[in-house]
This record gives sequence, structure tokens and C-alpha cells, in this order.
Amino acid sequence: MRGSLIIALDFPNVSETEGFLRQFGQEKLFVKVGMELFYQNGPAVITLLKDKGHDVFLDLKLHDIPNTVKKAMKGLAGLGADLVNVHAAGGKDMMQAALEGLYAGASANQKRPECIAVTQLTSTSASQMNREQLIPGPLLNSVLHYAALSKEAGLAGVVCSPFEAGAIHEEIGRDFITVTPGIRRANDAADDQKRITTPQQARNLGADSIVVGRSITRSPNPLQAYLQMKELWEGITC
Ligand code: C5P
Repeated sequence: MRGSLIIALDFPNVSETEGFLRQFGQEKLFVKVGMELFYQNGPAVITLLKDKGHDVFLDLKLHDIPNTVKKAMKGLAGLGADLVNVHAAGGKDMMQAALEGLYAGASANQKRPECIAVTQLTSTSASQMNREQLIPGPLLNSVLHYAALSKEAGLAGVVCSPFEAGAIHEEIGRDFITVTPGIRRANDAADDQKRITTPQQARNLGADSIVVGRSITRSPNPLQAYLQMKELWEGITC
């Protein structure tokens, strides 16, 4: 999954999702299904995407007691998701239980889904973390702490801001994957994202994969936007 451009399918239903994907013809994509699409449409969405040959990041950010997360992950592995995630704040035992569930749920002929962790949400500010979670100090300290805990638990990487990717690689190692949202082309609207980078900046900052939503999904020409983003991300000059 390293080097992927993951498209966030933030749509409310299957028909909008299918309408969007139709514009890509036979192109095999790496797509992200979040809570909006999954909670309203269920596991059938994942089966549909896998049947079309796409790789799927199921972004449900699990956070519960270890046993519950283990059982939930067993089910998600059975659906054929390629990448799933948890909140590192759930603890090391919970993250290890997530991996056990994924091992138990993946069928014999199927690759076990990779699991990554959310450290601090990119919507959380330092002052909010200090005040509401009672974690003192800068946000990056907490991000690095949770990234190290995720590594200890055996996870493959973390979701983070491109601005955190370099420090995470320095502290945890180059093979620990950083998946980064908050990506826009130079002239795209930032929308509600606070700290955005272009695909090239994300690559230069050390991001291993990028997640792109509205710059592609809201574009008048999603295929063209995707191909442009991909060229920028892969460093191909046109
Ligand atoms: O439309 P946009 O490119 O901002 O979408 C980014 C996607 O990445 C959304 O699906 C959002 O939920 C997700 N995401 C994020 N920040 C995080 C974790 C996930 O923007 N920290």
C-alpha cells in the first residue's frame, strides 16, 4: 500500500458511489470507505468495491475494549478490506486484539488486512488536547508517543498529518507507514482542513500514502483531477 493515492468515498449511498466510480472506467483504485457510507449502507459496500477490483481502506477508527475490537476486526477481515484502523488511545492490548481478530477473520486464500492507528485526530488542537484529555505539552509529543505504542503493538503505521510524517519516521523507523489526509492542489479550496499540503509537499515531507477526498470527488471532472493528483504525487512532470 506504500505509494498509494487513496480516494475518500465520502458519499451517503451506494448509487452516488457507483455513479462516481463509473467515471473511472476500468481503472483499479484504492478507495477509502468511512463511517458515512459504511454505517448507512453496510458491508455490501465493501463486497461491491472488492468485486470491482478496488483496494479498500475501511476507515472506521475502532476504539472499544479489546475483546469487542477483536470480534469486530474478525468480521471486517472477512469482508475483504485491505486496510483498517483503530484509535491508538484504545491502548496496546486493544491494538494487539485488533490484529488477532484480523488474523482470525482473514480466509486462507486472503491476505490479512493491514492495520494502522489514528494518533491524535487532525481536528484536535494542542490546547484542546491539554484541556480536554489532560495530556500536557505539544501535540507532536502525543502523536509520537501513540505512534510508538502502535509500533510496539505490531501495527503497520498511522494516519497523520503530512507535517508529522518526517518526525514519525525519524522516531519509529522508515518502514512504519504514514497515511496522510489534508491534501489539496495549489488552487483547490481548503474546505474544513486546517493544515493542507499539495501531493508533492506531502511526498517531500515523507508521507507514504495520501488520502484525497473533495479535491477529486467534488471536481467537475473527477477522473482528470485524480490523474493530475496522481502525477503530482508520483512526481511525474507532464
Ligand atoms: O475531502 P478531504 O480530502 O478533506 O477528505 C479527507 C478524508 O480523510 C476524509 O474522509 C476525512 O474523514 C479523512 N480524515 C481526515 N483527517 C484525519 C483522518 C481522516 O481528513 N485525521
